[in-house]
Amino acid sequence: MNIEHLFNQETRDQIIRNNLMSDSLLDYIKKNKEPFDTLMCYYECAIMEIETKFKVLDAEFSLQYDRNPIESIRSRIKSMESLVKKIRSRNIPITLKSIEENITDIAGVRVVCAFPEDIYMLADCLLRQDDIKLIARKDYIQNPKENGYRSLHLIVEVPIFLKSETRLMKVEVQLRTIAMDFWASLEHKLRYKKSLSDDQMAEISAELKECAETSAALDKKMQEIRNRITV
Ligand code: GTP
Ligand code: MG
Repeated sequence: MNIEHLFNQETRDQIIRNNLMSDSLLDYIKKNKEPFDTLMCYYECAIMEIETKFKVLDAEFSLQYDRNPIESIRSRIKSMESLVKKIRSRNIPITLKSIEENITDIAGVRVVCAFPEDIYMLADCLLRQDDIKLIARKDYIQNPKENGYRSLHLIVEVPIFLKSETRLMKVEVQLRTIAMDFWASLEHKLRYKKSLSDDQMAEISAELKECAETSAALDKKMQEIRNRITV
C-alpha cells in the first residue's frame, strides 16, 4: 500500500516527525549504533591484518624469486544493505553476538593471482601462520560450481590486538586467478539483469559456462608454460 495515497503532505510529515524522527527512536539508534560501528571497525582491522600478511608474502617472493605472485588485493566490508538482507533471509537473531557468529563474510579479502598454483601456495602460507585458524575451506577450483564459478574460499579467524584485549575476527578470503576474476565479474552482472527472458538467460548462462571452461584451460596452459620457463 502506498502511504502517499492515504495522507496529504502535512499529515504525512506529521507522522514521520512523530514516529520516524522521534527522540526515543533517535536515542535507540544512538545507543545501538556505537557497538555496531565498533564491531565494523574491528572487521576493518582484521582486513588490514590479512592484507598485510599477503603483502608480506608477495614482498618476500619478489625479493627471493624476482616475481610477484599477487596481481591485486581488493577488500570490502559487507554493506549494511546486504548485511540486513542476509540477517533477514537466514533468520539470524538480531544481536551483535549472533551476527558475528553466523555471518562469516562481513570482512572480505579477494586476492587475485596470475597463476593457479600461486593460489594454493599463498593459501598454504597463510594457513601455516600460527595466529591463523581455518574455519572453513571451499575449493571451487577443484570443484567448480554448476555455473562454472571458480575460486578458492577460506574463512579464517585472525587476531586483532586492541588496547586492552585481543579479539578473534572472521574474514572471508577469496583467492582466484585474473581469468577467474574476470569471469566472476561478468557473471555477477548477469545475476542482476532482470530484463532478460528465461530463454536469453539460459542461453547466456550456457555460453558463460563455456567461457569458464575455456578460461580454465587457458589458466592451465599458461601455468604449464610458466613452469617450463622458470626452472
Ligand atoms: P553467500 O551467502 O552468497 O556469501 O554464499 P555462501 O555462504 O554459500 O558462500 P560461497 O562460498 O558459496 O560464496 C561466497 C561468495 O563467493 C559470494 O558472496 C560471491 O562473492 C562469491 N561467489 C560464490 N558463488 C559465485 C558465483 O556463482 N558467481 C559469482 N560471480 N560469485 C560467486
Ligand atoms: Mg557473501
